[in-house]
Amino acid sequence: MDRIDLRSDTVTHPTPAMREAMANAAVGDDVLGEDPTVNELEAFSAELFGKEAGLFVASGTMANLAAILAHCGRGDEVILGDKAHTFRYEVGSMAAFGGIHPHTVPVQADGTLRLCDIEAAIRYPEDIHLPVTRLITVENAQCGVGGIPLTAAYMDDVAALAQRYGLRTHVDGSRIFNAAAALDCTVRDLVTSADSVAFCLSKGLCAPVGAVLVGEAQFIQQARRMRKALGGGMRQAGILAAAGLVALREVAPRLHEDHATARQLAEGLSHIPGIEVDLEQVRINMVFIHFTDEVRLSVSDIAEQMAQRGVWVGGRDPRGLRLVTHYWITPAHIEQVIAAFREVLS
Ligand SMILES: Cc1ncc(COP(=O)(O)O)c(C=O)c1O
Repeated sequence: MDRIDLRSDTVTHPTPAMREAMANAAVGDDVLGEDPTVNELEAFSAELFGKEAGLFVASGTMANLAAILAHCGRGDEVILGDKAHTFRYEVGSMAAFGGIHPHTVPVQADGTLRLCDIEAAIRYPEDIHLPVTRLITVENAQCGVGGIPLTAAYMDDVAALAQRYGLRTHVDGSRIFNAAAALDCTVRDLVTSADSVAFCLSKGLCAPVGAVLVGEAQFIQQARRMRKALGGGMRQAGILAAAGLVALREVAPRLHEDHATARQLAEGLSHIPGIEVDLEQVRINMVFIHFTDEVRLSVSDIAEQMAQRGVWVGGRDPRGLRLVTHYWITPAHIEQVIAAFREVLS
């Protein structure tokens, strides 16, 4: 990549190994279940997560929507965080396409939903006036508060609560490989008690397209129908799945390198007057910085001056920025970024 792009890990390009695997992928008609590379990706994903089956879909948004549509019927309710991507940034799709009601509870600074808040949100006992609670969705890593990994113990607590009320659990694990790397455990450890998990192959894993949904075989069969209904039945999709297999085998195991560059960045920026960084909140590949009042430039001016120095930044709020490291960002780039910030703010 010719510029230092820290706007998101969604900007990653495929690796050379992915491009080669894509060029050579064996393909077939996946709607007929005949694409060997898609079948391999789905089976490999299911095995990695300790679930019965997998489903390759176009995006994280489609994976979450297909899962929610497969778990819930019209008028049912889903409990999820008020800062969950599914609630904030997925076009209200569960309501728009499924007639499903989102019931939010506050996401805490540590990324969790408090168990007491979840329990209070469950519609129990059933009452003719109330929607039926069907599903609890948790995001891991929780990106709305800075990319915080949620532990296996917490995930198990949520699942145990769900089971007590006969509810199902879904994990938006868009960045679950980052969570597992940060916690030094496997993705399987984080989801043993969850009914379904959606994870992205793009973003930090560098594949150009795609996400996978895993869960019980019967659930995946229903999600497959939902994918078709959403127009997501793809044909010779093995070309894309081939990149996904490289993502899982070669890129997922190196995510701790992106966490190290994020830490290098956060620590470097924390020494620059005018920048505040909460180093405790830097757990995966995301760094949130805040500009103090002594900085007279607006965030847009800072972003523009950084761009003039070849550094792209994003996720702006009125006094802060989100910076995301990834495969294409090296420790040498980080030194350049720190020097550029120092110059702009001097
Ligand atoms: C936590 C989380 N979930 C889901 C998604 C949706 O993924 P996609 O953009 O592939 O639809 C994103 C995208 O950034 C995300 O950050």
